[in-house]
Amino acid sequence: MLLSLVVHTYSLRYWFPATIMLGTAPAYLLSWGVWRMLSTVLPASIYHKIDDRIYCIYQSMVLFFFENYTGVEIVIYGDIPKKKENVVYLSNHQCTVDWIIADMLAIRQSALGHVRYVLKDGLKWLPLYGWYFSQHGGIYVKRSAKFNETAMRKKLLNQTQTGTPMYLVIFPEGTRYNPEIKSVIADSQAFAKKQGLAVLKHTLTPRMKAAHVAIETMRDHLDAVYDVTVAYEGTLDGSSRRRSAPSMPEFLCKECPRVHIHFDRVDINEIPPEPEFFRRWLHERFEIKDRLLTDFYESQNLEKKTRFPREAKASPLRLYRTLPSVMILGGLTLPLLLTENGRKLYVRTWVCGTLLGWVWVNLSL
Ligand SMILES: *[C@@H]1O[C@H](CO)[C@@H](O)[C@H](O)[C@H]1NC(C)=O
Ligand SMILES: *[C@@H]1O[C@H](CO)[C@@H](O)[C@H](O)[C@H]1NC(C)=O
Ligand SMILES: *[C@@H]1O[C@H](CO)[C@@H](O)[C@H](O)[C@H]1NC(C)=O
Repeated sequence: MLLSLVVHTYSLRYWFPATIMLGTAPAYLLSWGVWRMLSTVLPASIYHKIDDRIYCIYQSMVLFFFENYTGVEIVIYGDIPKKKENVVYLSNHQCTVDWIIADMLAIRQSALGHVRYVLKDGLKWLPLYGWYFSQHGGIYVKRSAKFNETAMRKKLLNQTQTGTPMYLVIFPEGTRYNPEIKSVIADSQAFAKKQGLAVLKHTLTPRMKAAHVAIETMRDHLDAVYDVTVAYEGTLDGSSRRRSAPSMPEFLCKECPRVHIHFDRVDINEIPPEPEFFRRWLHERFEIKDRLLTDFYESQNLEKKTRFPREAKASPLRLYRTLPSVMILGGLTLPLLLTENGRKLYVRTWVCGTLLGWVWVNLSL
């Protein structure tokens, strides 16, 4: 009895935010849909401007839950530029919270609306969101031989030609690093060995395709690459071995007290265009990540453990940047739920939106 109460209270900690984040999706998409219709007669750049604003509202709400609600401490090593830039964001990948980390950095640069993702093809089946991410400039890619370079180029060019600001998030490892799934790590290491590349322990071997296509297609449009290394505190087990990173529900249950984010800005002119040199450059960036993470997880020196070797700054996010978006989306959702017709529209948006989204995303990509 007591135990089940404890379990319920625990799961409430993430059901509450999850319900609000998912529950406001229909109102959000309907608002977006109205703007999409109105904007058909306007230039694409104006559409994108407002689309980015709308996206920013939703993601600010997400950050309200992932930062203010969880009370996680964000520790940043390195200087985030003050002004907005067009960038490709490259990060190590260990869990779904990594997507939110990109938002966390972007909001500190007032660029939250410009965040777009390169996503694994399977994610296009996410109800509503799968389709919407693509609308907002996200790109779905298939692995290795099935990777369609032409399609990715076309979509990126379409956006750069209309001057759409870019904060394109790519996880070059292609899949999540999970220390508990040893076979994936072993395969990735064997691949590195075969290619004559340094073997990495705390990340997978990066794949160059998506990053290279993105950077080369948008080179004239881009200012920099943000090279980001993330470590979640609280992921060492009793014998000090690295465990898997927190999932979104675990994170919302406040399982992670601190996120450590190592940030390097690399000017676009420093990045070699030729594929072979680019590949080496990317691998070197991951060797640096691997060293940082090795220190973080394995250092014998307790002063160096569970931190990165560089000056650290705690970076709180003020409530006024996130709370208004919760009010706005809540305010749009409540009227829908309070009337009979509103509820019908709400359910229809979920069902029809998901189905139409699936059709659309499969035809257009
Ligand atoms: C790749 O994408 C292009 C443009 O979207 C398309 O015309 C082509 O058929 C695709 N190729 C494959 C192999 O799917
Ligand atoms: C760019 O994308 C928009 C929709 O996102 C589409 O209507 C338009 O035809 C595309 N333009 C080009 C040149 O591909
Ligand atoms: C959430 O907002 C409060 C009030 O502005 C602030 O004190 C706190 O540091 C924020 N939390 C995080 C994790 O940034």
